[in-house]
Amino acid sequence: MTRKIGVIGMGHVGSTVAHYIVANGFTDDLVLIDKNEDKVTADAIDFREAMPNLPFHTNITVNDYSALADADVIISALGNIRLNDGANEDRFSELAYNSEQVKEVAPRIRDSGFNGIIIAITNPVDVITQLYQQITGLPKKHVMGTGTLLDSARMKRAVAEKLGIDSRSVTGYNLGEHGNSQFTAWSTVRALDQPLTELAQTKDLDLDALDHEARHGGYAVFKGKGYTSYGVATAAVRLANVVLSDAKTVLPVSNYRAEYDVYLSHPVIVGRDGIIADVPLQLTEEELAKLQNSADFIEENYEKYKN
Ligand code: LAC
Repeated sequence: MTRKIGVIGMGHVGSTVAHYIVANGFTDDLVLIDKNEDKVTADAIDFREAMPNLPFHTNITVNDYSALADADVIISALGNIRLNDGANEDRFSELAYNSEQVKEVAPRIRDSGFNGIIIAITNPVDVITQLYQQITGLPKKHVMGTGTLLDSARMKRAVAEKLGIDSRSVTGYNLGEHGNSQFTAWSTVRALDQPLTELAQTKDLDLDALDHEARHGGYAVFKGKGYTSYGVATAAVRLANVVLSDAKTVLPVSNYRAEYDVYLSHPVIVGRDGIIADVPLQLTEEELAKLQNSADFIEENYEKYKN
C-alpha cells in the first residue's frame, strides 16, 4: 500500500514539513499545493534534485486538488504570519486572513473526495481546525490540529535545560489553546522519575517562569527569525507518521472536546482512524479551571475575530 500526504501552503512551515518528509522517505506520494505556482513548482524541482542523493524516492504532484482524493493525510500549513512585529503576541490576529484562505481551500479538499485525516498547523489552530472540520464535513475525529504538541515540546525543552537532561526524558502536557490561554498542567509533568511539583522544591525550579517560557516560546523564536518552523513542522510530521503507521500514540493535539464544544488540546490516542480515544487526566481543581478558561477564551475570540 502506498502512502500519500498532501501539504497545503509552501511558506516557511510547509516547505520545512515537505523537506522533512522527502528527506526521510516518510511518504511515497506527496502533493504540494500553494497559490504561488512559481514557488511550489520550484520547490518540487528542488526536491527532485535532492533525490539522486537520497536513499528514498518520492513522487511529487503540484497544485492538483484531484490528487488529494486518495491521500491519507493532508497537512495545512497555509497562512500569513502577522505576529512578527513583536507587539502583537496573539495568534487570533491571524484569524481574519487565514480563515478566508481556509474557506477557499477546504471546499476544494472536500470536492476532491478526500477521506483521510487533516492535520492543521494554520493559526489560530484550534478554531482553524474546527473550520476545516465544518467545511469538509469530515468526521470530527479525522480533523486535528498540532495544538499544544508544540507547546508541550517547548515545556520539555525548558524543564530539561534547567535539569540538565534530554528533553525526551521529560513527560507531561501543556493543555488548552495553542495560544496565550494555554498552561502547563504540572500535575502531569514528570522528570527524573519524580513529579515536577516535588522536584521544583528540591531543585529550586520556578514553575511559573517555566510555564511562561513554554507559552511564550513561539514569540521568542519569532523575534529572532520572523517566523517559527522546525518545532511545529516536526510536530506535524510526527502526527502524520503516527496516523500512517496506526501507532496509537498518546499525544496532546487539538481535538474536538464535546464537554467544551470547541477544539482544544488534551491528550488523546492517535492512529490510522485519527483521534481513537480520549486519555482522561487527573487534573487539579486549579488546572480544570484553567482548561475551562482556555475553552472560554477560544470561543470568545472566535466570535470576536471572525468576520
Ligand atoms: C508557533 C506557531 C506555529 O507557536 O504558532 O510556533
